[in-house]
Amino acid sequence: MHRWFNNPEATKTLMEERESFSIEQARGWTGAAVRNEGEDRKYAIVVPGIEQPVGFTALYGLFRQTAPELGCLIGDEVRGRGVGRWAERLTVTKAFEEFRAHRIYGRIPAFNAAAKKVVTAQGWQYEGTMPGHIKRGGKLIDCEIWGASPEQFFAAVAKW
Ligand SMILES: CC(C)(COP(=O)(O)OP(=O)(O)OC[C@H]1O[C@@H](n2cnc3c(N)ncnc32)[C@H](O)[C@@H]1OP(=O)(O)O)[C@@H](O)C(=O)NCCC(=O)NCCS
Repeated sequence: MHRWFNNPEATKTLMEERESFSIEQARGWTGAAVRNEGEDRKYAIVVPGIEQPVGFTALYGLFRQTAPELGCLIGDEVRGRGVGRWAERLTVTKAFEEFRAHRIYGRIPAFNAAAKKVVTAQGWQYEGTMPGHIKRGGKLIDCEIWGASPEQFFAAVAKW
């Protein structure tokens, strides 16, 4: 966690970049993640042949009237090799099958082409733009909203 959140190549496309992330913060983050309590769930991404996890996925805001949000960070240098696609597929399947979510959604910085490509291949639809929602380094960046129903998701991934 400490390694991933301190990797600018990985965090530059996130909704928010942290100014810093200490080892204590990483311990707190992982300690909370493994407790599996509350309305969020986080999963380490493990790739066969690579000793340490390469990133994580998350479901934020489960068990509510509003749909949960998907998060994903491939923190190590294996981006662009299909890992995110599979990690997101497995995580969204859990959201629908294990947690019975009625929908899934995500906020994606408009410039994050890889994130949009991954969800498009999984039946997600572009639903709108929050103009200038992200302010970073004095620049305003659009934030796109994407989402899918269980029907849209399962129909799309069945074709893989
Ligand atoms: C976004 C992310 C989860 C995608 O996972 P990944 O393992 O890198 O993606 P995959 O290899 O499964 O697929 C990426 C697709 O986007 C394409 N892609 C990658 N970078 C791209 C770019 N800059 N522009 C256009 N397409 C791009 C790849 O070619 C691939 O498409 P293909 O299947 O047609 O070849 C991952 O890159 C990541 O964690 N990035 C940093 C954090 C982040 O941005 N998280 C999402 C926040 S909304």
